[in-house]
Amino acid sequence: MEAGDSSRSPQYHDTTAAYALPNDSPEHQRLEAQARALETQMRGEVFHAAISNPRRIVDIGCGTGRTTVQLAAKYPDAQVIGVDLSAVPSLYEHPRNVAYIQGEFNKLVTSGDERLSPGSIDYVLSRCLILGVTGWPGYFANIGGLLAPGGYVESHEVDITLRDANDNRVVGDREAEEAFHYLAARKGMDLATGSHLVSYLEEANLEIAGQQVYRWPILPMPDAPETDMVQKITIQLPTAMQAIWNRLGTDVYPQEKLDEFRQALIRSHEPEARQVGDHYNFHVVVGRKALD
Ligand SMILES: C[S@@+](CC[C@H](N)C(=O)[O-])C[C@H]1O[C@@H](n2cnc3c(N)ncnc32)[C@H](O)[C@@H]1O
Repeated sequence: MEAGDSSRSPQYHDTTAAYALPNDSPEHQRLEAQARALETQMRGEVFHAAISNPRRIVDIGCGTGRTTVQLAAKYPDAQVIGVDLSAVPSLYEHPRNVAYIQGEFNKLVTSGDERLSPGSIDYVLSRCLILGVTGWPGYFANIGGLLAPGGYVESHEVDITLRDANDNRVVGDREAEEAFHYLAARKGMDLATGSHLVSYLEEANLEIAGQQVYRWPILPMPDAPETDMVQKITIQLPTAMQAIWNRLGTDVYPQEKLDEFRQALIRSHEPEARQVGDHYNFHVVVGRKALD
């Protein structure tokens, strides 16, 4: 069954957290495909922080555990902790240096979970949390508190703002897009997170140690074959995100208006509606905590 299959009844995690995408097997397959696409686009170099001997690493919102297991292999002497709202599926053999914690990241930190004690972590990875964080400044403040002096945080987030080949903003369906950003912002979400990562990290007193922008094209890019896989993921985004509309908006718009927006957004990503070069930007930003 595909992530966008209309006969599917998705399964969601049972929590009061904002995150509203499912946690069932089709969603795990979508996340795996997205991860493979990113690996291809990044030419196998998914981790950007220049850190040599981390002792403790946290992978926030670790999903299927793919990056957690990769970090464990890259740093065999480190202890790697994957944190997620949902249980991590058993897609991979469990490495001896990995532990998973099920829970909401901010709640775990502020409740004083001893596995996430202040100043105890050398490297934090946070990838694709755009729909799971309500209040980015507080989120990065919590990460800053977790980091040891000199520790790194690496954040990878998309900016869901459609842009053309020259990186200028283009509008697919203005009303639907604006409604989507507005409804998300009401809940503290930021659908342009990727573009705001630098300022969020600086606000948390983390110095910027590196940044890179990757394009997620809507149409195939013949002269950038490394984006072929990511392009297939990009066009599925509006369908994959259908689930969040009802959570965000039934108290603002009637159901039929939400359905109309949803359809408009999907139509605006169909090939005939787009130009070659139209894309979203996917940002990687690395921050570092001062050495004291
Ligand atoms: C889009 S998936 C990304 C998974 C993985 N980081 C990757 O890049 O493949 C987001 C994951 O973060 C988890 N998540 C969302 N908000 C969270 C939060 N506040 N605390 C912990 N986990 C969260 C979700 O359950 C989901 O597994």
